[in-house]
Amino acid sequence: TISKAADDLELDTYVIGGFVRDLLLDRGNHKDIDVVAVGSGILLAKKVSKLLLHTPKVQVFKNYGTAMLRDGDLEIEFVGARKESYSYDSRNPVVEDGTLEDDQNRRDFTINTLALSLNGKDFGNILDPFNGLKDLNSQIIRTPLDPDITYSDDPLRMLRAIRFATQLNFTIEPKSLKAITRNKDRIQIISRERITDELNKILLTEKPSVGFALLHKTGLLPLILPQLTALEGIEEVEGQRHKDNFWHTLEVVDNIAPHTDDLWLRWAALLHDIGKAPTKKFHKKIGWTFHGHEFMGAKMVYQLFKNLRLPLNEKMKYVQKLVLMSSRPIVIADEKVTDSAVRRLVFDAGDDIEDLMTLCEADITTKNPNRFKKYHNN
Ligand code: CTP
Repeated sequence: TISKAADDLELDTYVIGGFVRDLLLDRGNHKDIDVVAVGSGILLAKKVSKLLLHTPKVQVFKNYGTAMLRDGDLEIEFVGARKESYSYDSRNPVVEDGTLEDDQNRRDFTINTLALSLNGKDFGNILDPFNGLKDLNSQIIRTPLDPDITYSDDPLRMLRAIRFATQLNFTIEPKSLKAITRNKDRIQIISRERITDELNKILLTEKPSVGFALLHKTGLLPLILPQLTALEGIEEVEGQRHKDNFWHTLEVVDNIAPHTDDLWLRWAALLHDIGKAPTKKFHKKIGWTFHGHEFMGAKMVYQLFKNLRLPLNEKMKYVQKLVLMSSRPIVIADEKVTDSAVRRLVFDAGDDIEDLMTLCEADITTKNPNRFKKYHNN
């Protein structure tokens, strides 16, 4: 239908972005489809709706020059090809009409610039001026423009790069990784909600540690989750060392991933030792202790959720309880957790939580913290 509408209006029209990328990667069905028309995207959306029997409603966003059409669980966004220029203090660009190539050029990564033609004359052709297909094959995250420009224009893209690298198991090209490190402070102009969105997506991957290690390597992590960075490192006093709780945490998050897709359980794994930095002490007789870290951790979860704009409801309580029992999961079995709502949530999470945390506790030894760290430097 879009193809017919485009030909009727004589508009060069393409599907672009995530839908094409995921189609070529054979990655399930992408529910959001981005359509670019060289001309008016709004006119095209209206025409498509007219051609459909049930004439679905077209939502027009005049200010953005875009239109959205919902059909079942598909969300199709129509936009006119555009050229963008950014000012330093905003991620909202100044927009003007442009060619398809201008539109591809304004996008974040070459793998997201692939344009699949919908017109009868060349239906199914892929227009790929930035070698996105090559990068898709060699599993590389690369920006179409100089990465310093792409990341400075829209700093959210730094997190998107890391998120795509984690989700797709791709490598961020070294030039891009350096640019992220250079531009990291620009993350400050991004809203907490968007940052948290990307963190959630990283947490829900098969190997979240890839993303957190990249956040750490680029210096973004201390700007986003300083409480996690604070867990890094090993101190030695009188020949006694403790484990590196940062790398330990990443290992726990990976360990828990195959057991559950529950976002909140994954947050709990990420935060399970969060109270250890502020409670760390060395005692002459007993060595290193983190006494009371579970309670400290539960308090920190509240603050952290608030900062990250995560919901301060049962989900937070659930994560708090899991943090509280992370070192002694047995409390659930002993029925010491009296809050029945939380207990229900814990059991609803599906797996045997009381075993889960013990099962997933990683065994980075005091002496050999580099085992896991090394994996991330390869
Ligand atoms: N895009 C961009 N810069 C951003 C966000 C999006 O250039 N900060 C472009 C990319 O070309 C992207 C397209 O807009 O492919 C659609 O964005 P979005 O729907 O957010 O992401 P997808 O690529 O579709 O991937 P996902 O749905 O996994 O987030």
